[in-house]
Amino acid sequence: MYLRESIDNILAKDPAARSRLEVILCYPGFHVLIFHKFASRLWKAGHRTPARFLSHLGRVFTGIEIHPGATIGRRVLIDHGMGVVIGETAVVGEDSIIYQGVTLGAGSAARQGALSRDTKRHPTLGSNVVVGSGAEIQGAIIVGDNVRVASGSIVLKDVPANSIVVGVPGRVVYQDGKKIVKDDNPDIEAEAIKALNQKICDLEKLVKDLKNVLRKQEQMLKALSKNEVEANLGDTASTASSTELNRLQNQGQGADNQDPIDVFLQGAGI
Ligand SMILES: CC(C)(COP(=O)(O)OP(=O)(O)OC[C@H]1O[C@@H](n2cnc3c(N)ncnc32)[C@H](O)[C@@H]1OP(=O)(O)O)[C@@H](O)C(=O)NCCC(=O)NCCS
Repeated sequence: MYLRESIDNILAKDPAARSRLEVILCYPGFHVLIFHKFASRLWKAGHRTPARFLSHLGRVFTGIEIHPGATIGRRVLIDHGMGVVIGETAVVGEDSIIYQGVTLGAGSAARQGALSRDTKRHPTLGSNVVVGSGAEIQGAIIVGDNVRVASGSIVLKDVPANSIVVGVPGRVVYQDGKKIVKDDNPDIEAEAIKALNQKICDLEKLVKDLKNVLRKQEQMLKALSKNEVEANLGDTASTASSTELNRLQNQGQGADNQDPIDVFLQGAGI
């Protein structure tokens, strides 16, 4: 019953799966559930080391590490799976989908080592949650039903149901189908880039001011050069300052080209 349900679930959710035989032979996400089923039973019966060993064999065979203490709901699909790590006290709600490279890990509790043994350290995912490839969900947080976590996100706080989380650190960009207004929910990365851009603008202004000072000095030197020595000195200084000016002007011309930071900011809608 459990096996048939798991196979049918993969067939229903993965367009690449074409037959039951294909799922049985080629789906590590299916194989690991079988390992976990038995490892979990051993764990609950108190056979901790055999449970861990079976889980370890599952990892060797599939590339997916599920601690035998973890609770995996029905019809959970671990797609591709390589690199997935699901910690001891994690809970994955039924009908959820987990892609490759996802970590459901301990947060700061991991630093406490043995002191945090037998405490809740890993996340609890509600039903019908999608966790995109490479996403990390860390700590004893709660991710509500129907949440979608974008690939590559790092989620460190509770996530309300029916929302989409993206980014590092993860932030809710949609809830109940409505986009969350940016002002209430700043994009830290974008803010950092904006600040960098502002600093570059300030530096450009400073360089422009310095160029003006150099130009004025050059004019003054020319006006002051009365005798030969002074003229020589003036020429040397003016040649030096002209060279410097030319270099700065050439840099200035480069800035007229399309600025890659501007291109990035526009592309990111910032
Ligand atoms: C998060 C996810 C589930 C959302 O899917 P969705 O409901 O169809 O929503 P959208 O794709 O429209 O994305 C919603 C918003 O999140 C943004 N977003 C999606 N993925 C993102 C990511 N990885 N990082 C940053 N932002 C992301 C989109 O740009 C969009 O923002 P916008 O409305 O301002 O344009 C999906 O993008 C995702 O990451 N799925 C996992 C895919 C995966 O791991 N595949 C592996 C297959 S091998």
